Amino acid sequence: MLNFEFYNPTHIVFGKKTETQVGDMVKQYGGRRVLLHYGGGSIKKYGLYDSIIKSLEASGVEYIELSGVKPNPRLSLVREGIRMCREQGADFILAVGGGSVIDSAKAIATGTPYGGDVWDFYQGMAEAETVLPVGVVLTIPAAGSESSTGSVITNEEGWYKRAYNSLLLRPRFAILNPELSYTLPPFQTAAGAADIMAHVMERYFTDVTHVDLTDRLCESTLRTVIKYVPIALMEPENYDARAEIMWAGTIAHNDLLATGRIGDWASHGIEHELSAVYDVAHGAGLAVVFPAWMKYVYAHNLDRFVQFAVRVFDVEYDFSDPERTALQGIERLREYFKSTGLAVTLKDLDIGDDRLEEMARKCAEDGPVGNFVKLGEKDVWEIYRLAK
Ligand code: NZQ
Ligand code: ZN
Repeated sequence: MLNFEFYNPTHIVFGKKTETQVGDMVKQYGGRRVLLHYGGGSIKKYGLYDSIIKSLEASGVEYIELSGVKPNPRLSLVREGIRMCREQGADFILAVGGGSVIDSAKAIATGTPYGGDVWDFYQGMAEAETVLPVGVVLTIPAAGSESSTGSVITNEEGWYKRAYNSLLLRPRFAILNPELSYTLPPFQTAAGAADIMAHVMERYFTDVTHVDLTDRLCESTLRTVIKYVPIALMEPENYDARAEIMWAGTIAHNDLLATGRIGDWASHGIEHELSAVYDVAHGAGLAVVFPAWMKYVYAHNLDRFVQFAVRVFDVEYDFSDPERTALQGIERLREYFKSTGLAVTLKDLDIGDDRLEEMARKCAEDGPVGNFVKLGEKDVWEIYRLAK
């Protein structure tokens, strides 16, 4: 196990009706005038907007609003949010939605007090010294942004999707009410779950040894998601299933599972190009990319892939042919994604092979991708081809 620091101060409030506490939570963390940030309308359609407003007003918190965050959130709206916060003096950003809304909120929080252009952070040209505080009411378990250090934004000029990470970006609080995820369409439930699993697997595939505790935590998180997603798909209002998935989504990406080990993150980089160029939902892209990445790299550390197959998918260990066991684990993962209704090939996503080279070039243009195996442009291209 490697040396590590773990500091995750996000205050989690979990359970039924917890969104009614949002006004008090904003106040507790210093917000007096908030920018209420949300997406394309689901929060109005399902009544969440009204409870948020009621709670803010009851707590005497002033608010201004910016809606319209799209999945794969765009830089232009972030810039608009920054302008609004500066002109209208917002001191807190409240994100009500999923990863896209939260990431857009984090970008606004970073850009508002900064003298230059917010894209500087996403290009590695600036480091945040101060940010506005962010609070979250989560409506979809998926990205884990509710307590992560990351924000991922798409720049429409050139269609670059890039991440910025800073400890300052962990939200002050995250309200997690699993009931809010009852209204998710099956596709969003499944794509969100694929992202949750990918966050665990990015950390699981490591060469660091003696990380048995975090291996076991990763395996249980994966097994929990695998068990409860089919239940949530069949019974969208099954609280217990939604609760298990929602908490797994936060645990998967709050960095506890990364303690003492080095994560990989190549599949995320490879997927972000798909989202940027084809506007694919992130989790749906990962369901295609992750198994292809696994097939490309498994020989690098066969034991780890055998362990994954046996412990996560109950594949029987083949003593005479461990490679077969490893490959069966990868196949089971693909089959699992398929059983939740997700595409598992680029073709199923209606993506041809005409832009694979361009995506591979963009993906590796800042240097090798991944840690478990370091991948160059040609490797990334091979992985896209394996995903065809
Ligand atoms: O916009 P609305 O109308 O709200 O609809 C949303 C959106 O269309 C809908 N939705 C959300 N909650 C709902 C609902 N529909 C019905 N009922 C509800 N309760 O779901 C759609 C997808 O929302 P989005 O926020 O895009 O989903 P997700 O949470 O998967 O976020 C994806 C984004 O997060 C980034 C991804 O790259 C992607 O841009 N990520 C952020 C990370 C981070 N900051 O740490 C890590 C991740 O790896 C990921 O890269
Ligand atoms: Zn992800």
